[in-house]
Amino acid sequence: MLDANESLRDEALVRIDQCASEEEIEQVRIEYLGRKGILTLRLRGLREVPVEERPRIGEQLNRLRLLIEDRLAARLSQLKKQAQERAIREESVDISLSGSRWEPGRVHPVTLMMDEIVDVFLGMGFEIARGPDIEDDYHNFEALNMPKDHPARGMWDTFFVSDDLVLRTHTSPVQIRIMEKRQPPLQIIAPGAVYRHDDDATHSPMFHQVEGFMVDSHIAFSDLKGVLTHFLRQVFREDTGVRFRPSFFPFTEPSAEVDIQCLICGGQGITADRQSCRVCKGSGWLEILGAGLIDPEVFRFVGYDPEKVAGFAFGMGVERIAMLKYGIEDIRLFFQNDLRFLRQFS
Ligand code: PHE
Repeated sequence: MLDANESLRDEALVRIDQCASEEEIEQVRIEYLGRKGILTLRLRGLREVPVEERPRIGEQLNRLRLLIEDRLAARLSQLKKQAQERAIREESVDISLSGSRWEPGRVHPVTLMMDEIVDVFLGMGFEIARGPDIEDDYHNFEALNMPKDHPARGMWDTFFVSDDLVLRTHTSPVQIRIMEKRQPPLQIIAPGAVYRHDDDATHSPMFHQVEGFMVDSHIAFSDLKGVLTHFLRQVFREDTGVRFRPSFFPFTEPSAEVDIQCLICGGQGITADRQSCRVCKGSGWLEILGAGLIDPEVFRFVGYDPEKVAGFAFGMGVERIAMLKYGIEDIRLFFQNDLRFLRQFS
């Protein structure tokens, strides 16, 4: 009987040491100490042991029970500790690794240019307005004095959304939307995206314009000249030469194309090395924007009396102005999102 208890002890301790998980420990505990466990049954069998041996064997079995309980608890806490150490090792952060820098974002150069343009007009008392990018035929063309099938519409390479809807080809429809709702005096600046199917180094299918217009009882061409000259001298140089050249737009009469003296050759048309200037193509002038006095027909469309009101309007391309100001030769740079390009503006 004593030998049997000794081999039971050896076997139990080996089993406990081999346990590799909490579940296995529990299994071994049940096997030895459970209701029908080996040791439990032996303790119960004491009744059959001769009385004189009972105390000694009983004491031995009880000590064995305590030993097994101890070992099970020890193995369990050992396993838990190992699991914790493993978790710490696997989740640990290597603080010697170099970090990854999170660069702050910055404002896109087109937005910067647009804000700069708008700011000059805010300084002259203009008010900001916006219109939808998806515009109806009426506001983009019809009310701007371009009837259906009129050849003037050919000036705008239009993206059609449906028979009646287009991606606006210019910001001029904002003029109509504002005048429909409000009465003069008006002094409005309308920045935003416009769309034309054209794609090369100087044309992008999506680009930005800033529209401006002023309507009151006595607006003359000289007001347009004064406002635009001040604007151009703020954005470019204080002494920039400005030229108004006769042109045509269906919604202005008279119309003008506004030029500034070339920023590269200073209006000479020839660079220092006696070459013809590449930027102004030798003319000495750069075309900057379109403008004119609002056509009486446009006033009729919005319900104004052309005998009682007068106004001027102008529209300019934001990317074009940024390209001339910063000497950027390809408009696509604005939209390729190359950080080496974008980082240079702030
Ligand atoms: N809308 C014209 C364009 O896109 C520019 C313009 C605006 C011309 C206002 C005259 C008056 O080319």
